[in-house]
Amino acid sequence: MAASHRHDLAQLNGTPRRRLYTGADLARARTIEDLRARAHRKMPRFVLEYLEAGAGEETTLERERDALAEWRFLPRTLTDESERDVHGTLLGTRAAMPLAVAPTGLNGIFRRHGDLALAEGAARAGVPFVQSTMSNDRMEDVARVPNLRHWWQLYVFGGEEVWQSLVDRADAAGCEALVLTTNAQLFGRREWYARTRATKTRPSLATLANAARHPQWTLRTFSHGMPAFVNVRDHVPKDRRGFFDSAFWIREHMPKALSWDMVAKIRDRWKRPFLLKGLLHPDDVRLALDAGVDGVILGSHGGRQAESSVSALDVIAPARAIVGDRIALYMSGGIRRGSDILKALALGADAVLAGRAPLYGLCAGGADGVHRALEILRDEMRNELGQIGAPSLAHLGREMLVRTDSLPLPSEAAQPAG
Ligand SMILES: Cc1cc2nc3c(=O)[nH]c(=O)nc-3n(C[C@H](O)[C@H](O)[C@H](O)COP(=O)(O)O)c2cc1C
Repeated sequence: MAASHRHDLAQLNGTPRRRLYTGADLARARTIEDLRARAHRKMPRFVLEYLEAGAGEETTLERERDALAEWRFLPRTLTDESERDVHGTLLGTRAAMPLAVAPTGLNGIFRRHGDLALAEGAARAGVPFVQSTMSNDRMEDVARVPNLRHWWQLYVFGGEEVWQSLVDRADAAGCEALVLTTNAQLFGRREWYARTRATKTRPSLATLANAARHPQWTLRTFSHGMPAFVNVRDHVPKDRRGFFDSAFWIREHMPKALSWDMVAKIRDRWKRPFLLKGLLHPDDVRLALDAGVDGVILGSHGGRQAESSVSALDVIAPARAIVGDRIALYMSGGIRRGSDILKALALGADAVLAGRAPLYGLCAGGADGVHRALEILRDEMRNELGQIGAPSLAHLGREMLVRTDSLPLPSEAAQPAG
């Protein structure tokens, strides 16, 4: 991946050797990559395979970072850099930055009560948290986290009564928005992760041996047993409620012909903001607009579904041309730096969702680590905004970016001043 080459950059014949900080003092973590390195130090291999995996050849995963790397800012100078306001608006409400913590399932594998920690970190950082259907803390418990903007991500599985009861519970719990994920009805081929198991429901010996070398993680995560899919467990047959078994049962009972009819039914039942997540084709963005949703989240599920697709960043501009300012346009995929967020916004997104970045923080240090990850992204965004000469986020636009394949600039790019 483009990101992993970076540590060689400022080295001449290998000196000075670049080092990431992997210690416990979160304030000393300078970048998301520091938190990631600490996560890699602390977590057993099978957990990392789950966290990092992309589908198949991982070319979509690679594309997420490459797409960002293909754009460069064309900085202005002698502009007013004193404020650098990075507040954003999500669904009409002000946030500390235009970012939400993306829904991720199985957060209990990173540490016990991982969903509560993500929610707490997000609330403290002033951004929404999207809780996954496959989370391991009860929706109603997460809803009690002080100052949380709580969104619920819906997977459709089983009979009609399942999604209906989840939507009604999200309403009763006061969730601000409902996010229907549309691109994961058929599970992606995350082969590296699959290889950590000997059979469908049994970890391999190598996995168990490796996990045994991480006693702190084992204690912190499993002290009260295996994490469970507590929000949906009651909808799974009693004899299939074991950890692996319930995950596979749910997977097997996700309708493979989910359609726009289902979107219409959910739209009918859920009265607050309703977003669709996992779209990439502009025609689907148009259909979403026609379906009366309040926003779309472009994305490839962090490169975990289609093996060789475009990334969300690649399709922001055509998606924006379709939706205009009628509905919210968000993207997810590959956000590791404040400058990544600025690029997405400059290309036309209203906000981004970050998945792995806050998860690295969670693995590195629980709720404090999540908060630190979000703080790093915000600080980087504020600095970079000044570096490129934009007084605020409102000044970002396509004209501030050039593609690397169009460099050097042609002579006609120099417009006369004034
Ligand atoms: C470990 C992991 C679990 C995920 N689980 C879900 C999920 O349950 N529901 C969902 O809609 N997306 C899920 N996603 C996708 C994220 O919401 C998000 O789109 C993706 O992580 C964005 O890419 P990034 O990790 O590079 O930020 C998951 C992603 C990861 C990495």
